[in-house]
Amino acid sequence: MGSKGHHSSMMMILWVMFVAFLIMSMKVKAADPDPLVDFPAGPDAPFTFHDITVNGVVTQTSGGTRAGLSPEVFPASIGEGITSVKFILVPCGVNVPHTHPRATEVLNVVEGGPLLVGWVNTSGVLQTDELNVGDVALFPRGLLHFEQNKGNTNCTFISALNSQNPGVLNAGQALFAVPNGVLATALNIPSPILQIFKNDFSPALLQTSILSDCNPPPV
Ligand SMILES: *[C@@H]1O[C@H](CO)[C@@H](O)[C@H](O)[C@H]1NC(C)=O
Ligand SMILES: *[C@@H]1O[C@H](CO)[C@@H](O)[C@H](O)[C@H]1NC(C)=O
Repeated sequence: MGSKGHHSSMMMILWVMFVAFLIMSMKVKAADPDPLVDFPAGPDAPFTFHDITVNGVVTQTSGGTRAGLSPEVFPASIGEGITSVKFILVPCGVNVPHTHPRATEVLNVVEGGPLLVGWVNTSGVLQTDELNVGDVALFPRGLLHFEQNKGNTNCTFISALNSQNPGVLNAGQALFAVPNGVLATALNIPSPILQIFKNDFSPALLQTSILSDCNPPPV
């Protein structure tokens, strides 16, 4: 290799390093900012929170109960880049496919199971597993994931998410929010047939055990 070839391969290495650095610094900026003081919520904010399933941000769905925190109900989480959610899924209950645009999630099963967990990467490849008590799953930031209780008793799991405001985007709801012609093309389903699905779609009325063809083992 002549000195000219050597020079251009050095330039190429520098260029790759520069691009890698840019990507890494973009990732750093995407996280919640680091705290600048011990306790950004202020000296009067409690650092504990009692009974998340009663006093948290609680939603009841056909799949079960979701109890989360927000900076409003738990000011201690302000500026700490973290939050926690507790789920109680009924037998066959589904936590429908969704993403957290601002957080990676680490899920820990504390009661019941098996719990079917899965996520889809940016190549569209699905990975699934079944978890029991003491097992953990990690869902990378922004990627589509879901859970379903395959057991015959309630399954409880607790998740930590590395943002004070992870955001939840329900995939079904998001898809049905786009215009029919666009969705028809995305799903390769004719628009009139899609309209029939759309008329039936109501996240509040999901009949989880009927819709999901789930048969839990006898108690
Ligand atoms: C199972 O979870 C549901 C949803 O939170 C709750 O309503 C029900 O009482 C629980 N059942 C038992 C046996 O704990
Ligand atoms: C998605 O997962 C498949 C199977 O593990 C893997 O081959 C592929 O490289 C992954 N895609 C990305 C973008 O990581």
